[in-house]
Amino acid sequence: MQIIPVDIAGHPYEVRVGHGLIADLAGQCGARLRKATVPIITDANVHAAWGGAVEASLAAAGKVPAWQILPAGEATKCWDNLIRVTDWLLALEVERGDHIIALGGGVIGDLTGFAAAILKRGCQFIQVPTTLLAQVDSSVGGKTAINTPAGKNLVGAFHQPALVLADLDALTTLPVRELAAGYAEVIKYGLIDDPVFFDWCEAHGPALIAGDVAARHYAVATSVAAKARIVAADEFETTGLRALLNLGHTFGHALEAETGFSSRLLHGEGVALGMVLAARFSAARGLMPAADAARIAAHVAAVGLPADVRTLGLNVTGAQLAAHMLHDKKVDAGRLAFLLLRGIGQTFLTKDVTLDEVSVFLAGALQG
Ligand code: NAD
Ligand code: GLY
Repeated sequence: MQIIPVDIAGHPYEVRVGHGLIADLAGQCGARLRKATVPIITDANVHAAWGGAVEASLAAAGKVPAWQILPAGEATKCWDNLIRVTDWLLALEVERGDHIIALGGGVIGDLTGFAAAILKRGCQFIQVPTTLLAQVDSSVGGKTAINTPAGKNLVGAFHQPALVLADLDALTTLPVRELAAGYAEVIKYGLIDDPVFFDWCEAHGPALIAGDVAARHYAVATSVAAKARIVAADEFETTGLRALLNLGHTFGHALEAETGFSSRLLHGEGVALGMVLAARFSAARGLMPAADAARIAAHVAAVGLPADVRTLGLNVTGAQLAAHMLHDKKVDAGRLAFLLLRGIGQTFLTKDVTLDEVSVFLAGALQG
């Protein structure tokens, strides 16, 4: 097992990456589980795959889970479920020093984290991420949120977990499409500031998707270390450093919005295509070599992720697609904030991009 510290001032914690962590849940959590009943929030798919292992581990320690099993899917991150979960936690008489467990992907982690943030003005919670996306991104750094009719992740809080248990065994039951979508966030760390890691991704990404256990371990640990370094330096996204983690997200968000945040395009798939578009846009602006953008697109395609917007079959203009970007949380005083690249591993934030410029670029991308 590898332990990666997240040195956030005032509330540091560990991310543990390894095998058998869910099967040893009680041992991993140790004295954090103060009571005989352990509140665990999960979704139906994860409960079906991992509920038994959790129950066995807790039973061996003389504990029982109190399950809150929510439907799987993005729609679960909503006001109704926030009310349901917080009322349920209050009925369980959870105290601020108790630890609530989030067992699942980013949907469960974000919802549970937000409930923990507001319950009694802040309870402890433990992230047990079961998707690749959640292991390398959403479980670390303390962003929590729900979606509202106005958009995704628009209501939330920064609230750090007390511990993160990234069990690589969980990835063995994850559908391959979800695995590939999570891998987009792995590529992202290479593109942000680690070209050597991007080289590694090119060499090992296809094997990772196919099941290479050592590659999965290296990718998760390297990604978590990168994220830990960034969030420790800029917890509340105030200096611009943490904003780099949004590479590909502005284009991706527009594509997700256009496809109705549905299974037509998973979040990670939107990020993958968004990174390709950000790279191509950067190349079109003369910021980075076109060959680097082509290399990024080739790797995205090599792991089975969408690399060409035309494959989505959208019936939309460039301007209509770009208009979704105005709802991005990064819009500041009406100006779009974009993550562009000067090369692989050289991402930077800029506010000098106009909606018209992006519209023209997207119109070209939609036509090929
Ligand atoms: P998800 O939580 O919906 O999980 C994807 C699917 O995989 C679901 O159907 C789930 O039931 C299933 N699943 C999860 N683990 C499984 C396992 N081990 N075996 C079998 N099935 C399993 O999606 P996600 O991709 O993990 O997370 C997406 C969410 O994360 C979005 O809401 C996004 O906004 C959020 N997010 C948050 C942050 C953050 O910093 N907080 C960062 C990135 C994404
Ligand atoms: N996933 C982006 C962030 O945590 O800031």
